Amino acid sequence: MTNKKHSAVLIPGDGIGPEVSSAVIRVFEAVDAPIQWAEHLAGIAALDAGDDVLPNSTVEAISAAGVALKGPCTTPVGEGFTSVNVQLRKRLNLYAAVRPVRNLNGVSTRFDGVDLVILRENTEGLYSGVENQVTDDVVMSMKVATETACSRMARWAFRYATQRKRKKITVFHKANIMKMTDGLFLRCARQVHQRDYPNIEYDEVIIDAGCMKLVQDPTQFDVLLLENLYGDVVSDLCAGLVGGLGVVPGANIGDECAVFEAVHGSAPDIAGKGIANPLALIMSSVMMLNYIADQRGDERCRAAAAKIKTAYDKTLDDGQKTRDLGGELGTNEFTDALIDRI
Ligand code: NAI
Repeated sequence: MTNKKHSAVLIPGDGIGPEVSSAVIRVFEAVDAPIQWAEHLAGIAALDAGDDVLPNSTVEAISAAGVALKGPCTTPVGEGFTSVNVQLRKRLNLYAAVRPVRNLNGVSTRFDGVDLVILRENTEGLYSGVENQVTDDVVMSMKVATETACSRMARWAFRYATQRKRKKITVFHKANIMKMTDGLFLRCARQVHQRDYPNIEYDEVIIDAGCMKLVQDPTQFDVLLLENLYGDVVSDLCAGLVGGLGVVPGANIGDECAVFEAVHGSAPDIAGKGIANPLALIMSSVMMLNYIADQRGDERCRAAAAKIKTAYDKTLDDGQKTRDLGGELGTNEFTDALIDRI
């Protein structure tokens, strides 16, 4: 391995994306992370450059590198192009989304001891994008579930729980109403549990009651397994338990490659103001370094990840925070404070 650098695609994204992406670049330079960035466009930024919203060259570059860090991409509401995020996850078959949600030092919230992992099936459900105009006044959206994707996700989840020494998986579902689609999701999870992973505790909760339980006492949960839309919504709910969208990282993982991105979107309300919290993307980049270390056995990546994590913990502990966390720092000032502690 010696001095060789790993190539990783960087997609700055839209809105606050370029601001928080620059923070990651600076932090990686400060720890001398063995990563060579290859910048590619997607989203509005790609359209503005006269390209497709998701250029083939971007998808091919991620396939070749095996890893990418992605800033958020804006999706028009109620009209316009299909979400870049959804397209990317489908085209690269990034079927498992992982979102760890934990309390951070120095960020006080209603609950202590929150340590959840949200695992979201990333390729089907209501995100299949099959919508039809049935008659002039009737539209329809199709929820798709396949045994292949449900079982694949269930296997991934139980393997993850085993490797990470987690104790319990809870499936959030609505199979009382969506008997076929959510019913299939449940059946696949039960089967994988009973057949291959009986040592991991397993339970199921109807999603509405599950949301109530989460906000009453999130510490009763460990790993949550959800289909696509539920995983999206519950991720933001859980982010709210630990300080908000500025502190929750994520990964979209497939068998061939992985794209790391924060849970938050492009935050148009604060874009360009220099106040976005870069931590969620920085935390996502730490996940990326650990993923490369696991996949390729490069301990330099694990060491760089550990340095960054120690530095941001210390920064928050010292009360140095962005405004979303009750502090006063802007994006660059927070990044400076973090780099000072490396
Ligand atoms: P959002 O996550 O962009 O913003 C929700 C709220 O959280 C806003 O008040 C925003 O200012 C705040 N916020 C988000 N990230 C923050 C950060 N790092 N620091 C401080 N405050 C932060 O969600 P919204 O407004 O629903 O979506 C905006 C756009 O982002 C939409 O076009 C949506 O489609 C897109 N989006 C993209 C995602 C992705 O690329 N993975 C994920 C979610 C949304």
